Amino acid sequence: MPVKAHQCWGLSFAFPGVTLIMQSIVILISGRGSNMEAILDAGLRLNIKAVISNRPDALGLKSATRHGIATRVVDHKAYRSREAFDAALGATIDQLAPDYIVLAGFMRVLTPAFVNRYPRRIVNIHPSLLPAFPGLHTHRQALAAGVKIHGATVHFVTPDLDHGPIIVQAAVPVMRGDDEAALAQRVLAIEHRIYPQALTWLTAGRIAFTPNDVVEIRGIGVSLGSGDQFLLVPKE
Ligand code: GRF
Repeated sequence: MPVKAHQCWGLSFAFPGVTLIMQSIVILISGRGSNMEAILDAGLRLNIKAVISNRPDALGLKSATRHGIATRVVDHKAYRSREAFDAALGATIDQLAPDYIVLAGFMRVLTPAFVNRYPRRIVNIHPSLLPAFPGLHTHRQALAAGVKIHGATVHFVTPDLDHGPIIVQAAVPVMRGDDEAALAQRVLAIEHRIYPQALTWLTAGRIAFTPNDVVEIRGIGVSLGSGDQFLLVPKE
């Protein structure tokens, strides 16, 4: 069987004049794990040390195993407090010693103590164009607000829920007649595109921060597709 990039250890690769040691991640999930799968299927040049779930029955665990990735469960129900769960989660992560912690549908709010332990090393995907619609039920919030454009955001995690520095966003139209499920499906499709992209930039050392903590990606501008000034323009 051919060896996939994420299964290799200790490899290095060249990027514009620099040689980097291959970076490593752990992926945290709680359920279905379709973002995790998109990351695994993207064949990124990174070492995926394990997939960790806070739910023993998360569907994504089976899929990770099928991909040959190690899995761990830290069941939040086994801990009396958020702090105790986060300490156990942190201990599991520290054993694996990843460079980055990738939240992919991980449905637990992390304590500031946990987040501050890994500054600029935890990333998350959120199904809205942050700072619009933080928290849960983002598609319901978007439909209730009547926005015409919705989307997804990959960002660094800070103690402030859904407010960390933004790495990448992508937008989709809200169509007449959309319900939550239809909108969620359209957004999920772009989530699957932007998360592997963000991880490519991150693990290739292409992310820089301005003094105001704004993310800049080295070597790219915003892609405008057709060359139009506007990404989404309503038509008659
Ligand atoms: C995704 O929409 C993600 O943005 C949100 O929860 C959903 C998880 O889906 N946080 P999956 O488990 O990746 O399929």
